[in-house]
Amino acid sequence: MSSRRLVLVTGAGQGIGAGVAAHLAKQGYRIAAADLNADKCADVVAALPGDGHSHWRMDVSSEREVDDTFAALEAQQGPVDALVCAAGILILHDGERRLIADTSLDEWELTHAVNTRGTFLCTRAYVRARRERPVEHGRIVTFSSCAAQLGGYRSSSAYISSKAAILGYTKALARESAAQGITVNGIAPGLIDTAMLRLSMQAGQEQAAAANIPLGRLGQPDDIAAAIGFLISPEASYITGTMTDVNGGYRMQ
Ligand SMILES: NC(=O)c1ccc[n+]([C@@H]2O[C@H](COP(=O)([O-])OP(=O)(O)OC[C@H]3O[C@@H](n4cnc5c(N)ncnc54)[C@H](O)[C@@H]3O)[C@@H](O)[C@H]2O)c1
Repeated sequence: MSSRRLVLVTGAGQGIGAGVAAHLAKQGYRIAAADLNADKCADVVAALPGDGHSHWRMDVSSEREVDDTFAALEAQQGPVDALVCAAGILILHDGERRLIADTSLDEWELTHAVNTRGTFLCTRAYVRARRERPVEHGRIVTFSSCAAQLGGYRSSSAYISSKAAILGYTKALARESAAQGITVNGIAPGLIDTAMLRLSMQAGQEQAAAANIPLGRLGQPDDIAAAIGFLISPEASYITGTMTDVNGGYRMQ
């Protein structure tokens, strides 16, 4: 097995997850790219520089799929050094969020199943595996959102709620995992130019959106990936339980 550190990235089929996979592969990491969409994931992995990468179909909301994938991945590639939980969903209807009064229970449950339960299942599988086979510099990165911090302008209440749960969960996990030498930090992206953002933004609205961002542009997946590259590095060993805002100054606290 390779001595190059192994990173499992969920939601790696497109958008931020795909950008994180590409950025970290360039830095020399081995990437295990997982997504609900196996074909997209395979394409992402085929384009990564270097060798030792793999792709996995994994629904993060399924306990069985997450546990089976972790077991198969670690049997094949060795222990996962770092876990990046980028998989997420935002459900809109013709580009609009439903008001709470009009939100179905199914929409609420599905959103939490992927964004919140998915993060719990993946991180639980990781800390269980590391209890059996510890690694040096164990790392977890979760995904919240600027929407959870601000109450959200475009996103649904279900999405905001599911991402607000991650703000607390990240701290709880960081506190518990510290004894294992694992750091846990979250990313709260602002407006990042991916398919998820485009669900709520018509072509041509970019300039208006950028005008509300102090740094004057939408974010790119690589902006998020660069922060994650630092958070999972050995140099970040004294940083845990934090939420890193990558939002161009859209929200300053
Ligand atoms: N784009 C933004 O502006 C923005 C802002 C704040 C937070 N985020 C968060 O960043 C993360 C990445 O978002 P993105 O913009 O790249 O979105 P995206 O929709 O472009 O990509 C999300 C990926 O997650 C995968 N996915 C969805 N459900 C899954 C499941 N059940 N199991 C496994 N994979 C699944 C999708 O197939 C897709 O490849 C998400 O957690 C999102 O909530 C994004």
